[in-house]
Amino acid sequence: MTINGYTRVCGLIGNPVEHTKSPAIHNTLAAELGENLVYVPLRVPEGKLKEAVEGAWALNLLGLNVTVPYKSQVIPFLKEIDPLAEKIGAVNTLLRVEGGFKGYNTDMPGLLRAMGEDGVKLAGEKVLLLGAGGAARAVAMLLAGQGAESVIILNRTVEKAESLAEEVNRTAGRRLVRAAALEDCRSLPEGEKYLAIQTTNLGMFPRTEEAVIEDRDFYARIHTGYDLIFNPEKTRFMSLVEESGGRAFNGMKMLLYQGIIAYELWTGSEVDGVLAKKAYQTMRGEMAVRP
Ligand code: ATR
Repeated sequence: MTINGYTRVCGLIGNPVEHTKSPAIHNTLAAELGENLVYVPLRVPEGKLKEAVEGAWALNLLGLNVTVPYKSQVIPFLKEIDPLAEKIGAVNTLLRVEGGFKGYNTDMPGLLRAMGEDGVKLAGEKVLLLGAGGAARAVAMLLAGQGAESVIILNRTVEKAESLAEEVNRTAGRRLVRAAALEDCRSLPEGEKYLAIQTTNLGMFPRTEEAVIEDRDFYARIHTGYDLIFNPEKTRFMSLVEESGGRAFNGMKMLLYQGIIAYELWTGSEVDGVLAKKAYQTMRGEMAVRP
């Protein structure tokens, strides 16, 4: 691709941003679709988020992704916010509009698309949600919207699980979620099998030997384990699920599809299955070079 006067620029704001795999996704899509667009990581120092967002708009950037620690902090600096992102309370994609940026959350639609491809359904499911942080909050809202039958949030700090459960129940308008401590993983209702979604950062590279729960009896209760972590490709949580006979997936496809949905928002292009696969391979290749 030739960079010229018509090249549109998109980027990722966060701190740090050096380990991101998103350029592999977006620059592959642009190259394959023959679109004159580049995507670059842009580290934003603490305290400079407002300037970064205003500056990006002033510099005619087409769009931005937003990562840690700015996904919620960015909201006051937006011109508009999509209702889903507002409900989740986190924005990972900005689209240029008249006079500023509009904020979206493509993480949850990305997770949904990834789960669909992996044959994991949410409607009518009994779900165990491990963790009660920002990622868990987003997943819990998704579960409420997708008609999960019940959700148990297991978290080290039970008070955080309780306040999240309360908030989601309020939004859902039903008693969908209940909170539990990690130790309660040994006293789940008899006879049920669960979909477990792992949202904590335990097990993430380089501390790959960790899992939030080690209890083998707990893993025997899981028919499917979905870990939002993508590095390593197989986390300890996933191995424990598989060793107990369940199916396990990592967060790589969620990462891919949150990117694809952002790209579609920025360009109006449609990314088909063949192209998605190509972007996935490039991203995985990047991961193998630099974990
Ligand atoms: P994110 O936005 O990625 O969800 P977060 O909001 O910092 O990150 O949430 C991290 C989650 O991982 C929390 O649920 C946290 O548990 P606490 O609420 O008890 O802090 C969980 N977590 C992190 N380190 C943990 C550890 N060593 N053991 C158990 N849970 C841990």
